[in-house]
Amino acid sequence: MKQTMTMIDNRDGKSYEFEIKEGTRGPSVVDISSFYPQTGMFTYDNGYTSTASCTSEITFIDGNKGELRYRGIPIEELANKHSYLDVCHLLLTSKLPTKEESLAFDLELRHRSFLHEGLINMFNSFPTNAHPMAALSSATASLSAFFYNHLEMKDDYEYQEMARRIVAKMPTIAALAYRHSIGASFIQPDISKSFTENFLYMMRAYPHNRMHIDPEGERVIKPIEIQALDTIFTLHADHEQNASTSTVRGVASTGAHPYVAISAGISALWGRAHGGANESVIKQLEMIGSVDRVDEFIARAKDPNDDFRLMGFGHRVYKNFDPRAKILKSLQDQLKDELNLDSNLMQIANKIEQIALSDEYFIKRKLYPNIDFYSGVILTALKIPTSMFTPIFVIGRTVGWITQWIEYKKSKGAKIARPRQLYVGK
Ligand code: SDX
Repeated sequence: MKQTMTMIDNRDGKSYEFEIKEGTRGPSVVDISSFYPQTGMFTYDNGYTSTASCTSEITFIDGNKGELRYRGIPIEELANKHSYLDVCHLLLTSKLPTKEESLAFDLELRHRSFLHEGLINMFNSFPTNAHPMAALSSATASLSAFFYNHLEMKDDYEYQEMARRIVAKMPTIAALAYRHSIGASFIQPDISKSFTENFLYMMRAYPHNRMHIDPEGERVIKPIEIQALDTIFTLHADHEQNASTSTVRGVASTGAHPYVAISAGISALWGRAHGGANESVIKQLEMIGSVDRVDEFIARAKDPNDDFRLMGFGHRVYKNFDPRAKILKSLQDQLKDELNLDSNLMQIANKIEQIALSDEYFIKRKLYPNIDFYSGVILTALKIPTSMFTPIFVIGRTVGWITQWIEYKKSKGAKIARPRQLYVGK
């Protein structure tokens, strides 16, 4: 028996009926696809705060409880017990790999991590002061020229090959963008290293001709650094229909190449309201400079006439602690001594959190620290430059974007994303 909702137009008493659809978790939806044909009106939802754009089996978020699951498994379990690559396997195939599958998947990604010489040469045309995100989105879009065959894929094998290719290459592209921005030579992937270690190696290794001498001396990669970054990748892997994922699905809906859809996702993520927030958090903590000035900036964040916002605070979905922020906060505490985290930045961050969580302005609006609030302090301790914070978010999120892209392409009755408007012009 269909469940329905009736809407009455109080102007003429006419009533309209719409079907209610249940999910396996979370809020039900009212299917309003017949709203315009029935009523001659559009619905309006600025920023899509109450709008579901699709059905999905990939990621579930309960914003009130502060719960996040990939393929039904809680993020806490995945972050504490599984590698990022096992999480990629889970997202892409719907199941965690066996030991053999895990080894085979790891080996496949290592071999797919190399870039075409033509793509590498393309970086030489970028100005060295280009933000790595500009290089990342351009290079990713250009990958579509090197893998034109992915425009038409006919079976799961081809979808998986296309997906594993882009997941494997993203760290290499990101490291190349960074090396170019510091005038250092490109370091090819070393397939004897794991996914996450290889990224740190490609970022930091010394070229044989020692062009880039690090004033702090040779940076040996510590196992704790690999583990911390691997966890950060896992926490960023997917997040339901956020702005960049919706962008990827929107580009997918026109039938464009999957890699230009990922490039569009990178561009959307760059904004400081979204993935660019992690870089802005550190810049904001450095601007605040000391715990004595925290009150001044909290007051500015609350001032309706001041467009200053606390970066790393608030979330469209989480009206409770972002579960990823909780995991990062405990990771921060674990790493404090191992990686001598910047205690001043941490003290400022902790003071902001302590004040904001007891202040009526933030409590009333349910503004809590989000994932970006803590990731920057850890990434700084990993000697990752702030310009690479959002590229690291990209590396983690690429698997989520491409999984969502595949789900869209395989969904029955998928339509081109084409919203309407309320016209207020002449
Ligand atoms: C990510 O969607 C995802 O899932 C994203 C993400 C993912 O994994 O993909 O989780 C990653 O993008 C995390 C969010 C990172 N962005 C930031 O940290 C930037 C700072 N936060 C905000 O700009 C804001 O909170 C958003 C963009 C995150 C959410 O914006 P909403 O849901 O549109 O909320 P809003 O702008 O309507 O704010 C509601 C109220 C407003 O006050 P009133 O007009 O009601 O008086 O809360 C206030 C806002 O002014 N507010 C803030 C604030 N965030 C919201 N006030 C001060 N500081 C803030 N950070």
